[in-house]
Amino acid sequence: MPVENATYEIVRREDFSDVTYLLEVRVPLLARAAQPGQFVIVMSHPEGERIPLTIADFDREAGTITLVVQAVGKTTMEMQRDVKAGSHLYAVVGPMGEPSHLGAKKVVCVGGGLGVAPVYPQARAFKEAGAYVIGVIGFRNKELVFWEDKFRAVCDEFIICSDDGSVGIKGVVTKGIERAVAQHADIDRVIAIGPPIMMKACADLTRPLGITTIVSLNPIMIDGTGMCGGCRVKVGGRTKFACVDGPEFDAHQVDFNDLMSRLRRFRADEQVALESWQRACAAHSATAAD
Ligand SMILES: Cc1cc2nc3c(=O)[nH]c(=O)nc-3n(C[C@H](O)[C@H](O)[C@H](O)COP(=O)(O)OP(=O)(O)OC[C@H]3O[C@@H](n4cnc5c(N)ncnc54)[C@H](O)[C@@H]3O)c2cc1C
Ligand code: FES
Repeated sequence: MPVENATYEIVRREDFSDVTYLLEVRVPLLARAAQPGQFVIVMSHPEGERIPLTIADFDREAGTITLVVQAVGKTTMEMQRDVKAGSHLYAVVGPMGEPSHLGAKKVVCVGGGLGVAPVYPQARAFKEAGAYVIGVIGFRNKELVFWEDKFRAVCDEFIICSDDGSVGIKGVVTKGIERAVAQHADIDRVIAIGPPIMMKACADLTRPLGITTIVSLNPIMIDGTGMCGGCRVKVGGRTKFACVDGPEFDAHQVDFNDLMSRLRRFRADEQVALESWQRACAAHSATAAD
């Protein structure tokens, strides 16, 4: 796994909404090694937290990887405020995790909300490998849509859904999968990435249909190397470490209830970290204004 002494320059930043932003980072060795399905661990400054982020795109020629981040807590909000084009991340380690297994003939690539970013490189890789690709992406509303054209360009068929009906089919992504399945009896793989509850719904839909379904799990990760056990998940009744055994697993074998309850475990601590950071920011602004 390459660990670079480069400066991890942000060559581009794009804001998709108030909470979602894209960072293109110069990290040539890593860009050369990256495969769809893998992730990196990022520290934005020396005292910062290490956070896992999926490699949403990579450009081997330019030596860059693309990350799409949702500001949900202390670190991702701090990065949203401080990490700009021309600035540098402190550390980027990877690529980590097992690459996606390609090798299906007709595949439905499903992305819910932020999940659109990590499923994109897979849709592109399937297309390049000669598969027939049906893209299904879903958002809460039209304002949150990103990468529609980019995704559409690597799909043979494309379905967009929104919770409020402001764009595409009204409803969640399972409606899009139902439509694809009704029109194609020979789908041999579904890849679904998004919030755990969405991936569980996709698994519940495809299980009785017997369609192999792969999900990318997002448990709390700490070291990302298989040593701390923080990211353990239950798959087929056995314990797996998502950072080294995954993050992709057979959706029909995943214990989603266990995953969701483990994700809730640190919520109080996360709230404390966020509030104390917000207080420190407010105090700093008040001092600066004096
Ligand atoms: C393999 C993997 C890939 C991911 N890819 C992306 C991505 O591409 N874009 C993106 O925006 N987010 C991604 N995440 C989630 C991202 O790591 C968390 O949102 C981030 O760590 C939150 O940190 P915070 O301090 O901002 O929020 P916190 O307030 O600390 O946490 C908010 C929520 O984020 C999750 N989280 C917190 N710490 C971690 C951690 N160390 N590891 C995993 N999840 C955590 C928990 O669900 C938590 O409830 C990924 C997670 C994993 C495991
Ligand atoms: S993050 Fe420590 S074992 Fe996976």
